[in-house]
Amino acid sequence: MPEKNELMEKVVSLCKRRGFIFPSSEIYGGIGGFWDYGPFGVELKRNVREAWWQDMVQGHDDTTIPPGMPSAYAMVGLETSIVMHPRVWKASGHYDLFHDMLVDCRRCKARFRADQLETSQCPEKPSKRPGEHTNCDLTEPREFNLMFKTYIGALVDPESEAYLRPETAQGMFTNFKNVLATARVKLPFGIAQIGKSFRNEITPRNFTYRSREFEQMEIEFFCRPEESRRWYEYWRDRRLRWYVSLGLASERVRLREHAAEELSHYSCGTADIEYAFPFLPEGEFGELEGVAHRGGFDLRSHMEGKLVRRGEDLVVETGPDGKPRHPGSGKDLSYFDEETKERLIPHVVEPSAGVDRSVLAFICEAYSEDAIPDESGVLQPRVVLKLHPRLAPVKVAVFPLIRKEGMPEAALGLYRELKKRWNVDYDDKGSIGRRYRRQDELGTPYCITVDGQTMEDGTVTVRNRDTTVQDRMPLREIAQFLHERLTAA
Ligand code: GAP
Repeated sequence: MPEKNELMEKVVSLCKRRGFIFPSSEIYGGIGGFWDYGPFGVELKRNVREAWWQDMVQGHDDTTIPPGMPSAYAMVGLETSIVMHPRVWKASGHYDLFHDMLVDCRRCKARFRADQLETSQCPEKPSKRPGEHTNCDLTEPREFNLMFKTYIGALVDPESEAYLRPETAQGMFTNFKNVLATARVKLPFGIAQIGKSFRNEITPRNFTYRSREFEQMEIEFFCRPEESRRWYEYWRDRRLRWYVSLGLASERVRLREHAAEELSHYSCGTADIEYAFPFLPEGEFGELEGVAHRGGFDLRSHMEGKLVRRGEDLVVETGPDGKPRHPGSGKDLSYFDEETKERLIPHVVEPSAGVDRSVLAFICEAYSEDAIPDESGVLQPRVVLKLHPRLAPVKVAVFPLIRKEGMPEAALGLYRELKKRWNVDYDDKGSIGRRYRRQDELGTPYCITVDGQTMEDGTVTVRNRDTTVQDRMPLREIAQFLHERLTAA
């Protein structure tokens, strides 16, 4: 296996070479912090989303609910708009608080995150850190809001200002009452959403890890306040298990509970699920997902207005006129518990994952190098993506050994049959060894070859990506074999 720092370069190169991820607008020189997913990347990304939806939304009747907790809960989906009413971001606190500290160089006009000066590079040559060239002229750190601004309608004035959402979460809070009224859910229940978010990151870096346009998979789980700590622990542990179940090695993925001083003012617990991304120094981990206990903060903010901490309490921030500085909707977002006849503000546990970071972690984890014998027995190096079958972009590839003697027809017949159920590749070009190696780089778990013997006895070879072992089996058993290995995996 390559060294850690070399691995990242190899992953980026494989992603480009094999059509997983390309720089956005590449023919115009690219645009920092934006990425395009190619033909195989788009399948992998869809599979990550689908695995999350299947396991978290459809599979909500999980068997690992702690004893003493309600044994089942509802989980419903939502798809909300990217541009929301600007007051949403004022009440939520994003308008005032969603910023990074930024430092400008007055001379070369480069911008740096104040907390990353030590690891950033000045664009001037020879390459040095910002401030280290004699003519560097850095400003004092100042606040920079990360929300992308846009304008609604024809007029470009303060009245028409709006923002691209920096998280999908707020759409689930603003629709809390709509979901309650239409989905007939009762506490505890979750609302799940997958969608694009945008952050005008000062220094996008590390491939797709920190992008300006990315996708999130978020759950807002509403529960009774006295049960919230246990639901937080449940989600924290369940989300960690999810990554391991899809192939991340347990020594490279970990939970990091935030220390009390790191917690948001409204939270009684937050944990990051972190992965040892190869661009990080040995022993360091980067955030894959945050699981936060958010108390009643969000629903209260959208009822009452932007909240601030005053001692032990959260209170509405007021302006000089004594009125809320950023008023909420004024709508009642409380919940009436039919059993206890109580009205309450539910607490929220929020597992918030990044699709792009998950894809990157799964690719980094799957990247592997070994050597296998070619047709003449000579060992040839190969790159193989050992992706979990649920995530693999192509599930199976079908090859005719040669392009004659009825083999292409039989192979195409099988390909068309399997294609109804899975994403299947057909390849009849080049040596069989090269065709296997191409599929290995894409992470295809199985390759099926139609050869001379198929024409005689109706059997084909099935090659396993990880072991490279080839088994012969009847054509009629292939669909069932794949069903067991892929669908039920
Ligand atoms: N609603 C809570 C929230 O948005 P966050 O920790 O800011 O929390 C959640 O974001 C997840 O979204 C992160 O763990 C990460 O996976 C992903 N994410 C955040 N910023 C990102 C960026 N600039 N590029 C790619 N993914 C990002």
